[in-house]
Amino acid sequence: MRDHAAAAHDAVSRDDAGDANDGHALPTDFERLSARAVSRRGFLSGSAAFGATAFVLAAGGMPANPARAAAAALDFTPVGANGLDTVTVPAGYSWQVVARWGDPLWSDGAAFDHPTRGTGTSQEMAFGDNCDGMALFVHEGRNVLAVNNEYTNLGIAFAHRESGKPETADDVRKSKAAHGVSVVEIARQDGAWRIVQDSPYNRRITPDTPMEITGPARGHGLVKTAADPDGTTTLGTWNNCGNGRTPWGTYLACEENFNGYFSSSDPDLALEAAQKRYGIELEDWGYAWAKTDERFDIAKHPNEPNRAGYVVEIDPLDPASVPKKRTALGRFKHENAEVALAADGRVVVYLGDDERGEFLYRFVSDGTYAEGGDNRDLLERGTLSVAGFAEDGRGAWIALTPDTTGMASQAEICIHTRQAASAVGATTMDRPEWVAANPAKAEAYCCLTNNKNRGVKPNAGGDATPVGGPNPREKNKYGQIVRWTPDGGDHASDSFAWDLYVVAGNPTVHDDARAGSANVNADNMFNSPDGLAFDSQGRLWIQTDGTYSNAGDFAGQGNNMMLVGDPATGTIRRFLVGPRECEVTGITWSADRTTLFVGIQHPGERGNSHFPEGGEAAPRSSVIAITRDDGGIIG
Ligand code: FEO
Ligand code: CA
Ligand code: CA
Repeated sequence: MRDHAAAAHDAVSRDDAGDANDGHALPTDFERLSARAVSRRGFLSGSAAFGATAFVLAAGGMPANPARAAAAALDFTPVGANGLDTVTVPAGYSWQVVARWGDPLWSDGAAFDHPTRGTGTSQEMAFGDNCDGMALFVHEGRNVLAVNNEYTNLGIAFAHRESGKPETADDVRKSKAAHGVSVVEIARQDGAWRIVQDSPYNRRITPDTPMEITGPARGHGLVKTAADPDGTTTLGTWNNCGNGRTPWGTYLACEENFNGYFSSSDPDLALEAAQKRYGIELEDWGYAWAKTDERFDIAKHPNEPNRAGYVVEIDPLDPASVPKKRTALGRFKHENAEVALAADGRVVVYLGDDERGEFLYRFVSDGTYAEGGDNRDLLERGTLSVAGFAEDGRGAWIALTPDTTGMASQAEICIHTRQAASAVGATTMDRPEWVAANPAKAEAYCCLTNNKNRGVKPNAGGDATPVGGPNPREKNKYGQIVRWTPDGGDHASDSFAWDLYVVAGNPTVHDDARAGSANVNADNMFNSPDGLAFDSQGRLWIQTDGTYSNAGDFAGQGNNMMLVGDPATGTIRRFLVGPRECEVTGITWSADRTTLFVGIQHPGERGNSHFPEGGEAAPRSSVIAITRDDGGIIG
């Protein structure tokens, strides 16, 4: 999601709302590159907002692992920025649509109806809207794709309504059914990937699907409601943004802007500070779910929002399984859940909270992963920590416990996680989006997408947002990617070294810090990095969700895009440009790595796309498949 703004209706902005210890190795190309950046652009001269630590590589402050192995180069000629209403990939590569919003998953579902954009019934039988994080699971030769359906653009879904919003009970039913997760079998036939209708794996998980509350918050008073006096079961998931996948074959769907669906039937209701911290308001973002489902009415059910904002674990291969909300991973506006293994087999999950001035988290399980063992509940118990970044290129994970936070219980910490992180003085970040862990070495990267409030105002909890560290620019328009290397090469270590992999910018418009780091140039520039994933070859794929005006500060950047970065050299090349007004988000690969699946979300969110069908067709969020014309691997 672009930010809160795009959630519901375009007109209303919600903006306010192994070599780890070798310190003697030679500097890498990227270090030299960054050093030139500092010199050329005067980042250290005091003329810009950057602190000296913004480029710890250049400052020699990166003690860990200069000996980065270069990722295998992917053979392609980078594509130019453009504003076309289609997908652009390099010569020698092709793309096709796999699944679109409204495509029926069962043969008795109705085909997508362009004039009305469907009904409650058709949507319940169909692929959801606004595809986001995704993962492909292969079981006994069958390909099962789990995809988040983050939200729906009311102006698109209800274009046939005069108000451009849901007006009837069935409109709300359609809206709810457009959210959640789509689990769908796909198969490659005659060279093209298609939905396998009526597959026993096909499943829609929606805001009404029964789920179990697990972990420390299970049974706590704050998650008890009239419908669930035990605080152990809940209905549904919505606003699922990024994702994760576990080594034991489950899918993690992350609940992000869950707040925008709640409203109050009492216009004079006094909101509690804890509600305000999570953006709960008296009015929703136009969804009107409370009109037909009173659990979204906070005047009647004040604890209901406490049952959202979690990571949900789903078994994609068992359509009868009950999804589990993993409260041990904290409650906030979850982006994705990047899973890595610690040296001793404990499960490490990196988690971003995508809101201006919120935090970056890490969960480490109590139990250890064993291949073929019973790993089902590893995410139920563990230590949740939050990141603190120091100016000198060092950082630490601060455990969130009753002792460190002063809060009454771990349950409370797992429900009011933002307050817990504020209590320990964690570093306020520029909207942490996806985290990606390098499979080839112990390091992880996080997109900090942008933050117009950096250096301007505190976060919703009153924490200051000073310029510095991994957030080096005031009113950050372009975003950056921070990376860290855990001490000892172990993701469970409580300390790390960090640097900035790239600072996005526009060097054709600016010659100060807004030009970006030296690995940004007129040919690869972008803004607002968001989706992020490593492929099996150690390449870093970067997806953007930024300003596509192609004017002013963003001149020459065109539509949102996907780029490929080399972690070792810092080289970044543009691989794909999406259609108009879309966000590129969600990425996974076929088992043989010859197909790359990518999500195209909300094309035409401001009314200017007919992707993918063209003509006068309704714009439809879609999963696309990209292949090489020579059949080679693509990651
Ligand atoms: Fe749904 Fe933070 O993006
Ligand atoms: Ca975003
Ligand atoms: Ca995102």
